[in-house]
Parts: sequence; C-alpha cells; structure tokens
Amino acid sequence: MFTHSPLNSDATSPLSVSGKAILVGEHFAVYGASAIAVALPDAVRVYRETSERVELSIPQWGAIFAPDAAGAPLSQAFAELLAALPPSKPLRIALSIAVPTGVGLGSSASIGVAVLRALCEANGWRFSDAEQYALLFHWERVFHGTPSGLDHAAALREGLTRFRRFEEPPLLALPLAHPLHLVLAHVSDGASTKAMVDHVRAWRDAQRADFDALLASAEDRAERLLGALDAGAHADAGALLDDNHRDLQRIGVSSPALDAACARARAAGAFGAKLVGAGGGGCILALTDAAHFHPVREALDGLARITLPLHLPARP
Ligand code: PMV
Repeated sequence: MFTHSPLNSDATSPLSVSGKAILVGEHFAVYGASAIAVALPDAVRVYRETSERVELSIPQWGAIFAPDAAGAPLSQAFAELLAALPPSKPLRIALSIAVPTGVGLGSSASIGVAVLRALCEANGWRFSDAEQYALLFHWERVFHGTPSGLDHAAALREGLTRFRRFEEPPLLALPLAHPLHLVLAHVSDGASTKAMVDHVRAWRDAQRADFDALLASAEDRAERLLGALDAGAHADAGALLDDNHRDLQRIGVSSPALDAACARARAAGAFGAKLVGAGGGGCILALTDAAHFHPVREALDGLARITLPLHLPARP
C-alpha cells in the first residue's frame, strides 16, 4: 500500500516512533482532501520487558495498562489491537514519550505504532505496511471515533509526507528540496479529537456548500504548498499556513489562545503560523527560517507551556 521508503528506514532506533505535525489539511483530510505532514522524530521510544502477562507500562506517568475493553482509553485501545492480532506471548511494553500528549501531535497514533512494533518483534510477526496501517485503525478508533488514518500513517514514516485518505496508497513519503525550520508551541490543553471531528461534521451538515468550497481550497492549498516548498518559496508557504489557520477558525476549531500564539509568531517574523491537529486547544506550528528561528521561538516561549524546535534537512 505504501511506497517510496521502507518502514521507518531512517529512524534513530528500530524501536523509536515518530509523531507528526500537520502543515496543512487537518479535518479536511477526513473528507478526502490532501494533508501534508512532517514527522517529529523520536516521539515515542519503546522497550520490551519480561512479564507474566501482556501489559503496557508508561513509567513517566507511573502507570501500567492491562488490555481492558471497558477500561481507560489506552487499555481499550490495547484490547482492540490485541483482539485483531494472533495471541501474543506475555510481555511488558514500556514506553517513553517525548512529546506532549493529546495536543495535536499524533501521540496516540505514535503509541499505537510503538505497541504494534513491540508486539511484532516479541512474537516474530511480520506484517506488510498495508496490514499495519489497517491494524492500527483498531487502536485509533478508540481515540478518534472515525480517524482518517492520517495520524498513524504519518507515524509509520519519516520526513515530509502527503496523505489522501481515499487514494491508494493513502500516504506517500515526499522529497524535501530545501530545509525547513519550524517551531511548535504547546499553548493550552487539547480538546478531544473525537469531539472536534464531531463538531466539524455538524458544521458540514449545516453548511454543506460552504464546507465543500473550503474542502476544494484545502486540496488546492496542499498542491500549492508542495510547489512552494519545492521552490524554497517559504514566504508563500507561510501565507498558505495562515490561510489554513483562517479556514480552521471558520469551521470553529481554533481558540483565542491558539489565535494569539499564531499572531505572536507572525509578529516575531514567522512566515506563517497555524494550529495543528484537531484544535480546540493544543499546539501551533510556526514556519520560519534560520534567521528568525530564535526570535520566533523566544516570542512563543513567553506564552507557551513548551516550545519544540523542528529542523528538517533537505532530502532527495
Ligand atoms: O489532533 P490529532 O493529532 O489527533 O490530529 C487529528 C487530525 C484530524 O484531521 C483532525 C482527524 C483525522 O482523523 O484526520
């Protein structure tokens, strides 16, 4: 199903999984528009430990999750994934999570990919990319309700990717002609992805013609963004990110705190800024260049809980 590069071919360790930040296309991806995402390397690390049962441990939270269809979301997702797999050997899957969770950076999908990879290694299972992609819907449905597949597809890849839900393959790894300098800022508590996707569905049902026009613009924007990135026209790319943020505001998934953070980044010299992921709170992303990177990060440090640098080298 996927093409262009083997699974996590350049991950720093075979058990290191990426998160993702969406440059354009969240929410519209649910209805088939292209989304362009970049991987956040090393978002989740996974270690296998001996145990008498199958369990998931997150030491930094002091938490152990057994698979339980009626338990906490992680226990439910674990149970759903295991139910779709052959019986597993007992093992403890211990995770170390380096990105803020539940704020639009794809952490639930990255954890799902990490768990699946640990189960595969422990049990000697080999699944194709397409099979892994299909299996991970069992995990993601618990968190997203009706996931497009974007988050877990992106977590199976490195670098710049394009996702189109109804295409085959849905995800392509893309070359990056010029380096990208991004600042991510965790601005406020995130909202439930499922609640935000449900909100957008209601907006679409109420204003179908307007939504369809926004969907067509989203597709066009993704095309234009790829052209701008290819040409190294980062000011144009930034303007497209700003447009994307305005459309996300229009469908009601931004918040005053996210808007203020985007404005702050632009005032500090970012080419453009937008919320990332489901919205309602969470993170923003600012596109900058080497000269403006530090001023933009410092400006965001003043209002964010944490800022994360993301420097993507050019790659063929
Ligand atoms: O907030 P996140 O990281 O879960 O991103 C969700 C992306 C959406 O487009 C809003 C939903 C989806 O399934 O594509």
